Amino acid sequence: MSKSNFDTRALLKKMTLEEKVGQLIQLNSMFLGETTADITGPKQELGVSDSMLSKIGSTLNFHSFAEVKDIQDRHMSADRLHIPLLFMMDVIHGYKTIYPIPLGMGASFDPELVKECSKMASKEASAGGVHLTFTPMVDYVRDPRWGRVMETCGEDPLLNSIMGAAQVEAFQGDDISNPDNIAACVKHFAAYGGAEAGRDYNTVEISERLLREYYFPAYKACIDAGVVMLMPSFNSLNGVPSIANKWLLQKVLKEEWGFDGIIISDYNAVGELKTHGIAENYKDAALMAFECGCDIDMMSAGYCSSLCRLVEEGKVSEEKLDKAVLKVLELKRALGLFEDPYHGGSAEKEKALCLCPEHRELARKAAEESAVLLKNNGVLPFSKDNKKIALIGPFASTGAIRGSWSCNGLDSECVSVADGVKALLPDAEITVCNGCSAEWNILDRSGFDEAINAAKNADIVILCLGEPQHYSGEGSSRADIVLPGVQNELAKEIIAVNKNTAALLFNGRPLVLTELDETVPAILEMWFPGTEGGAAAANLLFGDANPSGKVTMSFPRSVGQCPIYYNHPSTGRPKTIPDDRHQPYASSYIGCGNLPLYPFGHGLSYSDFVYESLTLDTDKMTSDSEIKVSITVRNNSGRAGKEAVQLYMHDLFASTVRPIQSLIAFKKVEIGAGETVTVDFTITEPMFRFYNASCEFVSEPGKFEVSTGHADNLILTKTFVLE
Ligand code: BGC
Repeated sequence: MSKSNFDTRALLKKMTLEEKVGQLIQLNSMFLGETTADITGPKQELGVSDSMLSKIGSTLNFHSFAEVKDIQDRHMSADRLHIPLLFMMDVIHGYKTIYPIPLGMGASFDPELVKECSKMASKEASAGGVHLTFTPMVDYVRDPRWGRVMETCGEDPLLNSIMGAAQVEAFQGDDISNPDNIAACVKHFAAYGGAEAGRDYNTVEISERLLREYYFPAYKACIDAGVVMLMPSFNSLNGVPSIANKWLLQKVLKEEWGFDGIIISDYNAVGELKTHGIAENYKDAALMAFECGCDIDMMSAGYCSSLCRLVEEGKVSEEKLDKAVLKVLELKRALGLFEDPYHGGSAEKEKALCLCPEHRELARKAAEESAVLLKNNGVLPFSKDNKKIALIGPFASTGAIRGSWSCNGLDSECVSVADGVKALLPDAEITVCNGCSAEWNILDRSGFDEAINAAKNADIVILCLGEPQHYSGEGSSRADIVLPGVQNELAKEIIAVNKNTAALLFNGRPLVLTELDETVPAILEMWFPGTEGGAAAANLLFGDANPSGKVTMSFPRSVGQCPIYYNHPSTGRPKTIPDDRHQPYASSYIGCGNLPLYPFGHGLSYSDFVYESLTLDTDKMTSDSEIKVSITVRNNSGRAGKEAVQLYMHDLFASTVRPIQSLIAFKKVEIGAGETVTVDFTITEPMFRFYNASCEFVSEPGKFEVSTGHADNLILTKTFVLE
């Protein structure tokens, strides 16, 4: 991999105990700034001495190359052995040029686009001094109340695995010493997204079978793609917090999957073993985490205060300590840091790359491809001949559309919807008003009159609604995931005076949109689209771009349906009546029905895609043979567009209950106006494996069904037999 021949073992031999332990400590960059006088309190809390401070191995959270260089230079001259620091950062959906949140990127159904965006982020971050990103986050999710669903690709294990691996490959490339690349860290192992009731950091109790079938595959895919680091999750999993969970970190991760990369704790997760009530004090917490395999302790008092003592007392062997330290030194070597502690970064490079026109262009394309047209009664796309345009709503003119975890990006660098529409239609007469706030507790209607007047006088109205960016992300769970505040009321007032209205949505999770869906003729889900969000929105609204995103996490009709997901197991009493009425003595809700408002895989287009045929080249297969599947889709419109063709499978009879549908393959294709495209897939036996009641990964002979079509109407189905 790396070109560096630096002798890390020789270096290790020269190191004192304190120097070794230092390599396993990660502190926030504020501890390393020019003046650290104001952080005496936090230093004492963590039990970090000034002597240890000059020996730590890595840092996180900084803002520019200038800051990195300053910290690195001072650190290397203070450190007796001049060992470079590792600089780590959450480069989740861009470093400075921000592309859509991962939930949106997943909706693109385009792993190549995900790779392109990750490469762009990698180049910018690397120029800015970042050596490793805490990406990809591949936590499997089913509950939109959890704020961190914005960081995932949703409720399908296959999609999560493909998108996760794509990010690892793009960030790390073939060689992490290449200055365009940075190292990656998969997180949060495991099942952080299974938090009870969608409340962040909450307990997770999930059967081993479910873990292995739905929650584990994406982490494993990232490991198979060569990710160098892994971060265990904050939550307890079946009673034991992940960072101290031997079954998880020793048996599954190391013994079964052969992961020998670095394990880093999440922020203060070692210290939190105390608050979990698992460790009595920091020393016990440090011992538990270290024995479980945690190499680096991020921001807790555990290793700082106790690891040296634990070694001196013989509770931690020096051999084990050396192994962990060597892994950290090896990562530094692989990155080429012993030769170039800045990894090719520079202020000039950072300036030239960040927000450059090429990167903005890619961010715009990604925002267009991620957007999902949830509803359209024909009002969209708007004609550019409309001269009078009203932009109404709390997201009409704001740059606060980056979304959570947008690294060093700024709201002021984002193209708002108003900026985007004005740039696309410079001659139009555009009125912009907020109408109301998007905050849940602000019920002020004093802006309604101005908004209603603007709508009355306009040819078309663009309603820009959503939830503020800080309503999703870490620590941002919501119990009632409706449009906050009086936004639904505003929408009703506007529609009453102008039906030529489309709603644009900015949000970090599936929302309950039942009321809005009944009110407005068209809804375009933008998620948090990033730096070029407003430009992308304008192109989509006026037909310069054609929506092609598909929902990857079900939008419930009511929060009471949560958790809701398309790949749920069959029940003994399924609901069989097709509409939403309650069906007594069937698994069904009174007054709501079971169906989501918008299911997984749903997304409309301005083109009209007709699924014409699904053919199999044979209806029998064995574990050594395969079946070729061909799906023909016709674009029955005068507009070229893209369609994510999805193939689903149902195992009709098996020894354990199987999901009613599972995505087994997908491909996004471009289909010209009036053209027909045939998409081919190959089905092989491993696609049908599952965990049986004894937790063995098997496929069982029998009948299977494959289907395709539009998500709410998989019209084409074929059956075959696995012998
Ligand atoms: C988050 C991680 C993140 C870390 C460092 C934690 O609070 O859970 O996802 O990587 O902070 O910023």
